[in-house]
Amino acid sequence: MRREPAGHPPEINLVDPGLYAHGDPFVQWRWLRANEPMYWHPPTELPGFWALTRYEDIRDAYRDAETFSSAQGILLRPADHGADPGGGRTLALTDAPRHKQLRGLVDSWFAVRSVRALEAEMKDVARRVVDEALERGSCDFVADIAARVPLYVICKMMGVPQADWERLYTLTSQAFGAGDPAARRFAHLDILGYFEELQEEKAEDPGDDLVSVLATATVDGEPLGAEDVILNCNNLLVGGTENTRIAAAGGMLALLEHPEQLQRLYEEPDLMPSAVEEILRWTSTATHIMRTAVRPVEIHGRKVEPGDRVTFWLPSANRDETVFEDPDCFDIVRQPNRHLSLGFGEHFCLGSMLAKVELRLLYQELVSRSIWVELDGPTKLLDSIVVNGPELMPVRLMPGSR
Ligand code: HEM
Repeated sequence: MRREPAGHPPEINLVDPGLYAHGDPFVQWRWLRANEPMYWHPPTELPGFWALTRYEDIRDAYRDAETFSSAQGILLRPADHGADPGGGRTLALTDAPRHKQLRGLVDSWFAVRSVRALEAEMKDVARRVVDEALERGSCDFVADIAARVPLYVICKMMGVPQADWERLYTLTSQAFGAGDPAARRFAHLDILGYFEELQEEKAEDPGDDLVSVLATATVDGEPLGAEDVILNCNNLLVGGTENTRIAAAGGMLALLEHPEQLQRLYEEPDLMPSAVEEILRWTSTATHIMRTAVRPVEIHGRKVEPGDRVTFWLPSANRDETVFEDPDCFDIVRQPNRHLSLGFGEHFCLGSMLAKVELRLLYQELVSRSIWVELDGPTKLLDSIVVNGPELMPVRLMPGSR
């Protein structure tokens, strides 16, 4: 049952990054779900857009990829930034039939069997990262633990030489970190530069890795082209690291804030798979995903014209009271738990399996060794409308103290 939120309607502004760092976006989303499920969000420094906040509406739109295109970008961006350079070229930013062709090149690398084959190595990575954090005692869970596991794993899959992992770790930390915008831009450019060189090497001397697959691929009988290879490498690196880092840290935070749930996980480690699903629902790190309508359509009596931007607010869908019982309760045994944190439909997250295994192995490392984790200072949340969750999370780790 959808309950009408009491009191005055809140002021709606979903594009204020401060809302996600210091405010409570759920107040606005709850109100929109109940009262304006197809809301026209007026322009700010960003162009105006439609906002979908209900689970079923978002799933329906996800299903209708012929109306809702990804090729013009999947995130809101200021009009004066121009078109997304990856538009029509990267996996995430293409429509059928090219999307299917690109996805076909890399799909098998992320299938259950391939991820299982990597599991022993991922476990080693998780152990190493946790050991280093234990040695230090105090650290930032985001940068020192959560960021390293997915980064090392995707580097390995892409064929980045191990000697360069630390360099890419530093560059991705700068590119997604809190530093000034110019430093972030330079880090992004450095990452693209790095892949430019790597793809040239792999094109000449291919190995058994994802960059080699892309660097030697043909689509419709044509080679991909250096720029498309670089953009797709960047898509894999960003996709492979950013959300998993934030979900891993956000999940730890949720467990620390719900100590009875954490205790239960220590006592019943078999609950890990369902705990990971609940962590994904709860953290819902991808805040919005955008599509562009390419033909007219009507939703809740509102007319959407070709060219209109339509946004899906995934954390709102994951708290939809008509789908999830007691949606604002963090419950590691929740069943069923068909959250939309990894998207839905044709563009469903390529790395979904990998992300779940990474999260499971990281928490297992902490739980199986009875490692005590406690907050060691205020957590800072990201100031962003794209991804939400911890940016900085000081913690103290103690061995075998549970
Ligand atoms: C908790 C971790 C993760 C979350 C929450 C997440 C979330 C998402 C979401 C919501 C989408 C759908 C985008 C859309 O609808 O347009 C997506 C797509 C994608 N994700 Fe993930 N992701 C995660 C981990 C990963 C990992 C580990 C990889 C590894 C490479 C990855 C690679 C991708 C790629 C390449 C796409 C585009 C797929 C396509 O368009 O066909 N993601 N992800």
